[in-house]
Amino acid sequence: MSATTLEVHLSPEQLVDDMRTEVRAGLTTDPKWLSPKWFYDDLGSALFEEITALPEYYPTRTERALLTAHAADIARRAGAEVLVELGSGSSEKTRLLLDAGLEAGTLHTYVPQDVSIGALEAAADAVARQYPALEVRGVVSDFTGSLEHLPRGGRRMIAFLGGTLGNLVPDERADFLARIAAVLESGEHLLLGVGLVVDESVVVPAYDDAAGVTARFNRNVLDVLNHRLGADFDSSRFRHVALWDPHNEWIEMRLEATDDMLVHIGDLDIDVPFHAGEQIRTEISAKFTAAGLAAELDRAGFDVEQTYTDEGRLFALMLAVRR
Ligand SMILES: C[S@@+](CC[C@H](N)C(=O)[O-])C[C@H]1O[C@@H](n2cnc3c(N)ncnc32)[C@H](O)[C@@H]1O
Repeated sequence: MSATTLEVHLSPEQLVDDMRTEVRAGLTTDPKWLSPKWFYDDLGSALFEEITALPEYYPTRTERALLTAHAADIARRAGAEVLVELGSGSSEKTRLLLDAGLEAGTLHTYVPQDVSIGALEAAADAVARQYPALEVRGVVSDFTGSLEHLPRGGRRMIAFLGGTLGNLVPDERADFLARIAAVLESGEHLLLGVGLVVDESVVVPAYDDAAGVTARFNRNVLDVLNHRLGADFDSSRFRHVALWDPHNEWIEMRLEATDDMLVHIGDLDIDVPFHAGEQIRTEISAKFTAAGLAAELDRAGFDVEQTYTDEGRLFALMLAVRR
């Protein structure tokens, strides 16, 4: 018999409260910025799923191929009884880890965690239906906050797939890895799926596809602010921009105002001026080298046990163990 529960550590009210604070900070400074976590309302989560199937978006299919090839080895090494997945989204690729953990005879619980309650509920229900032998415990929370609410007990592996680690700037990343280390016991595992540094001609189209799905995903964040904070953005007056920053080795997604405008944000009682050509940074997506990330993991208290990469060295799965 499967069981599904949903623990809410971030209520819709808290989420909007956090959004108010961050949006005020990000849109009243120069240059302007927004956190990528606001992309993921129901439409944003659905658009992200569309992105993962685009021909230009190599990360998802490459990570899926790596999981297909190596999930059994990962399951054997980690011996996890409990799989916790941060930013789990649709949990689609995770099924490869679930199959391998069940096959190994160790796994009994799956804990998907996400800030997007709609996507999480749908994914947790679907996994529970497909895997009656698993206990499925969904957790609604923000992984940039405390992780102390994550379940303890049972041998755990925390998975963080899809290159989402790259959405954090280096300081946030160091803090995030340290908070994961703080909740894991010695011998427990962390599995990271990250994009590797590749040529600009490969990485930029992945964030600026010909069909314009990433542009819709990017602009949707303005509609999220319209719905949740009573803003009056006209998202059609913002252009999607994806830029490779070779110094930081990250992609930046931005929204560029097509003309001068004044945007009112009702809930914050502020007017935000934009001049033509002004940009809002909406996401960074850092790319890694295996050696660089191994050093970051080492500083946080992890040893890299195994690194799995594809032939084209586009993507890596890194399995690390808490010292
Ligand atoms: C790039 S998608 C990856 C989804 C999935 N893991 C995959 O590999 O396809 C990022 C996911 O993280 C979630 N997310 C983004 N920021 C978050 C945060 N601060 N806390 C919790 N979840 C977050 C989003 O809702 C989304 O499901």
